Amino acid sequence: MKFFIDTANFDEIKEAHAWGILSGVTTNPSLVAKEENVSFHDRLREIAELVDGSVSGEVIALDAEGMIKEGLELAEIAPNITVKLPMTPAGLEACRFFANKGIKTNVTLIFSANQALMAARAGATYVSPFIGRLDDIGQNGVELIETIADIFTIHNIDTQIIAASIRHPQHVTAAALAGAHISTTPYKVLKQLFHHPLTEKGIEGFLADWNKRKGE
Ligand code: E4P
Repeated sequence: MKFFIDTANFDEIKEAHAWGILSGVTTNPSLVAKEENVSFHDRLREIAELVDGSVSGEVIALDAEGMIKEGLELAEIAPNITVKLPMTPAGLEACRFFANKGIKTNVTLIFSANQALMAARAGATYVSPFIGRLDDIGQNGVELIETIADIFTIHNIDTQIIAASIRHPQHVTAAALAGAHISTTPYKVLKQLFHHPLTEKGIEGFLADWNKRKGE
């Protein structure tokens, strides 16, 4: 499973990129709205220059014509821009349009296996099931990843599954085991993935021994 970061904050992206683990970035209108003093297109441009991988920018329009217009403008920004589209009839219509043009798409707000299958058949490069939001309403988000992964394997579908709406490190491990190709993880959770008390204790111990020896 690869790591994408789920943020529009450039400092967070720069830091995660420096760790050498980053294969892409996803944004959404809520994440972009948090960013001040920068236009949406300019932010996508700087991210796409830094990260050598898929950078999802989401359309705002609700009709297919509007989504196509916005998506074409987004795709012009850089070759690694992925047009993010909502899981609606208009979203899938636009998805098919972009697929036919060879432009990558990420169909977002996936909450059922049937939605994922439909998006895949509309030519989606990626589908984004939101596991945290399913957990929030008492459904099992990880189970959905597993079901979609099984269906895509049975039917030889090459659409990639992005586990989205990740809330904690256990989601990351579970999504990897369930067959997600990618997890798009918020900065805070990515940082949590580093921590283990025995790693920290081990470093302290090694350093203490080293310094003792040097003092002899
Ligand atoms: C995915 O692409 C979305 O941006 C994201 O994962 C949504 O997560 P949330 O439920 O934490 O808003």
